[in-house]
Amino acid sequence: MFRAAVLLSSLLVLSTHQSLAPFAATPDDVVDRMLALADVTSRDLVVDLGSGDGRIPIRAAQKYGARGLGVDIDPRLVDQSKANARRAGVEKLVEFRVEDAMTTDVSRATVVTLHLLASSNAKLRPILTRQLPPGARIVSHAFSMGPDWPADRIDTFISASGDQVTLYLWKIGK
Ligand SMILES: C[S@@+](CC[C@H](N)C(=O)[O-])C[C@H]1O[C@@H](n2cnc3c(N)ncnc32)[C@H](O)[C@@H]1O
Repeated sequence: MFRAAVLLSSLLVLSTHQSLAPFAATPDDVVDRMLALADVTSRDLVVDLGSGDGRIPIRAAQKYGARGLGVDIDPRLVDQSKANARRAGVEKLVEFRVEDAMTTDVSRATVVTLHLLASSNAKLRPILTRQLPPGARIVSHAFSMGPDWPADRIDTFISASGDQVTLYLWKIGK
């Protein structure tokens, strides 16, 4: 009965928000490359929009001592992220919330990470450009922001699993 109620409430949350992408975890070596591309330090607040199992903010906290926020519309993934953060010993540095990324306040973020779809990046783009402070960086795994906002840097490489990966970096101007 309790499990059915949890399942029902999860389905309700999922169905009332538009899905920006299905869950697919970024491999660990690619996460490290995203954080290096963004030049993450302990002074950063890393916000992952659509945070899945939480691995990007968790790694940023573990490796660089950065603070992190992850939001996802799937409550099970958010629960898993909180457990993963505890296991990694970084629960004081990172926060995870069930939230629609389209409504997340990113005005205090210094790094935003994305692993969504091209169409989702296009929807988020006006929010990011309106809210992010000067100097903030955006890193996207696999998808650009469209031809009229070329990336400041593109990193293409072969991942540990043998896949060709492309990462895009944009810096918000002063
Ligand atoms: C491709 S996964 C990326 C997970 C993680 N960022 C990573 O790179 O390992 C996309 C995630 O976005 C979440 N998502 C989809 N639509 C969303 C929305 N509107 N708001 C917040 N999260 C969303 C999905 O539940 C999924 O976990």
